[in-house]
Amino acid sequence: MNKPTPSIEILDTDDIGSNTSGNPHLADLIAERVSRRSVLGGGLAMAAAGFLGGSLLPEEAIAGRHHDHHEADHQHPGKSKGGKKRLKFKEVPVSSDDTFVVPEGYVTQILAPWGTPLLPGAPEFAEDASNSAADQARQVGFNHDGMHYFPLPVFGNHRGLLVLNHEYTDPNMIYSAEQGGVITPDDAGREKVAKALAGHGVSVIAISEDHKGEWRMVKLDPRNRRITGTTPMAFSGPVKADHPMLKSIITPEPKGTLNNCAHGVTPWGTYLACEENWNGYFGTDDAGWAATRTPLEARYGVSATGSGYNWHKAEPRFDLAVNRSEINHFGWVVEIDPFNPKSKPVKRTALGRLKHEGATCTESAGRVVVYTGDDENGDYLYKFVGDKPWRSYTAKGKSPLDHGTLYVAKFSADGKGEWLPLVHGIGELKVANGWVDQADVLIRTRMAADAQGATRLHRPEWVAVHPHTGDVYVTLTNGSGNSAEVNSGRDANPYGHIIRFREDRKSDTDFAWDVFLLAGDPTYDPLVPADQPLFGSPDGIWVDDSGIVWIQTDISNSSQHLASRGYDNIGNNAMLAAVPETGEVRRFLTGPRGCEITGVTMTPDQCTLFVNVQHPGESSSFWNSQFGAPTTDNPSSVSSWPFGRRPRPCTVVIRKRDGGKIGQ
Ligand code: FEO
Ligand code: CA
Ligand code: CA
Ligand code: CA
Repeated sequence: MNKPTPSIEILDTDDIGSNTSGNPHLADLIAERVSRRSVLGGGLAMAAAGFLGGSLLPEEAIAGRHHDHHEADHQHPGKSKGGKKRLKFKEVPVSSDDTFVVPEGYVTQILAPWGTPLLPGAPEFAEDASNSAADQARQVGFNHDGMHYFPLPVFGNHRGLLVLNHEYTDPNMIYSAEQGGVITPDDAGREKVAKALAGHGVSVIAISEDHKGEWRMVKLDPRNRRITGTTPMAFSGPVKADHPMLKSIITPEPKGTLNNCAHGVTPWGTYLACEENWNGYFGTDDAGWAATRTPLEARYGVSATGSGYNWHKAEPRFDLAVNRSEINHFGWVVEIDPFNPKSKPVKRTALGRLKHEGATCTESAGRVVVYTGDDENGDYLYKFVGDKPWRSYTAKGKSPLDHGTLYVAKFSADGKGEWLPLVHGIGELKVANGWVDQADVLIRTRMAADAQGATRLHRPEWVAVHPHTGDVYVTLTNGSGNSAEVNSGRDANPYGHIIRFREDRKSDTDFAWDVFLLAGDPTYDPLVPADQPLFGSPDGIWVDDSGIVWIQTDISNSSQHLASRGYDNIGNNAMLAAVPETGEVRRFLTGPRGCEITGVTMTPDQCTLFVNVQHPGESSSFWNSQFGAPTTDNPSSVSSWPFGRRPRPCTVVIRKRDGGKIGQ
C-alpha cells in the first residue's frame, strides 16, 4: 500500500495571525519595561532574575491589594526569592528519546489511550486503525488535551470522573493503511469524516484506584460519556440558536463541538470545553467563494483550504460555499455537566466567540469570573464577570454564565492595565458604527475587541489562578513560529513567556501586570537566566492547591529540535514546576517524540497526578528528516510510544512510589 496522505501541519496554522487592527502589542510594552528595569536594576541578567524574584508590579498596586482569600494564605509572590526550597524532586534532564521520563521515586501508568472501549458495546481498539466511525463514537477520542478530575462523593481520592478534551484528529494515525489519509468525495470519504468527528469532543470517564495504586476505567459506570462533533448542542445567552447568522441548512439544530483545547471548571461543578481552531475544519473547492469572503470570516482566519482536513470534500456541512452559517456554531465555550450523562451541552455565548484556548474560572465577591485566551498570533485576553453572585442564579435554575460582562485586556507599559467592556452601546460598539446588538458584538467578538483598543499578544494560551494569592498567570506561547529572526533578539519571541497579573479587587476593570518567566535558551537569548531550566513555548499552566505552578510546553513540530529555530538544545516537550515564593523552576517530566504535554489535574490529596500526552509521533520537521514522515502505511516512523506500536495519545497517571504528595 502506498496511498498518499495529506501533509497536514495542523498546529502551525495557529501561528498565522489575522489581526490587522494595528492595536499596540504587548511585546513592545515588555521591551519597554525590560529596558527601563535594566537601567534601574543594573543589567539585563538582573532584570531577568527580577521577573521571578522581585515583582515588577507597581508598589501602589501591591499596597492597595486585597483579595477574597484568607490573610494567613497571603504571601507576596515576589517578596522573598530564596528561602526554604519547596520542590522536593530531582530535575529530569532534557530528552530527545521516545520515552516518558519522570523523576526518581515516581511511577507512571498509561490510562485511557485513544480507542479504548468506553461505552457499552464498544469494540476493542484495532491496532491497524480499522475501527469504524461507529466504533470510535463508543471509544475514547483522539488527542487528549485539557482535563479535570472530579472526585466522587465517597473515596474521592480514589474514585472520580476524569473529563478530558480531544483536540483534533491526525489522518496519518486514525485511518488504516487500506483507507489512506485522503478524504474523497464518496461514501469512503464520508465514513472517514464521521470517524474524525467521533474522535473529537470530550470523554467523561469514571475511574478508580485499586489497593495497589493502579487506576482503571470503570467500564459500566452510567456516567461514562462521549461528546463528539455530532452531539446535539444547545445555545444560551445573548446569541440564540435561531439567530439569522446561525441558520445552518444542514444542522438547523446545532450539533457538535470541535477542537476542544483547554477547559475550565465552574464553582458549581460543571466542565467547560473550549473551541479553539474550529475555522480549520471548514473549506471549499468553490473558486468563487474567496471573492465573497466577509470581513468577519477574514478576521477569524476562515479560508478555502482550512487547516487541510478537507472534510468539505465529503461533507457539505463543512463546505463554506454550501452551508455558510454552520461555522458560526463554533468558537464558543461549551458547558457540560459530567454528573448527568443525559444533559445537553450548552454553548455559553456571553463568553464570546473566538479561538478559546481555555476558560479558567475563579470568583470575585461571589460572582463567577472566567479568563479565556484567544490563541492566535496578535490576539487578545478576555475575562467574563458575572453580574451577581453565582449562587443567586443556580438557586433559580439559571446559569451564572448567561448574565455578566465580557471584557478584553488592555496593557500599559507602566505595569498597569484595564479591562475594556465589550458591551453594545459602550465605546465604539454603537449602532452608528454598525453594531446591531449584543448578539452581534459576541458573534464578532474579535472585531469588537479590535474596535475597543485591546492589546495584541503573542498567542495567549492557558490561564491559571493562584489559589492562595489570587494572582493570575497567562502563558503566551510564542510569537514567531515561522520567523527566521530567532537569532536576532527577543522581538520574534520564538520561546514565549508567562505573564502574571493582579486584579484590583475594588474594581472589575483595573489590574497590574508583570512578567513571571521568560522561556528560552540563553545561548540564543541573553535575557533568559542561565540557571533556569531550558524550556520553550509554554502552553498548559495550572497552580495546584499547595501553590506549585505547573507549566506544560507545546513546541511546534515545525520548530522542535531545530537550530534554525533556536530549539536544538531544548528537547522534547516537557512539564516544569515553579514556585513564585522561592524562585524555584525545575523540569519535572519529559514526553516522547512528536508529542506535546497538556492537561494536568490531581486528586484532592495531591497524591495522584494526571497528565496528557497529545499527538505522540506527529509529523515533525526534525524527526521526519531522519525517519520519514508518518503515514497511514507507517504511522510509527516518529514514535511508537506508549506500547511500541502505533502511537496513541493517552493520559499518564503519575504517583510517588512512597504515596506522597506530588512535587513535594
Ligand atoms: Fe490548542 Fe492553543 O493550544
Ligand atoms: Ca495541541
Ligand atoms: Ca494548548
Ligand atoms: Ca499550543
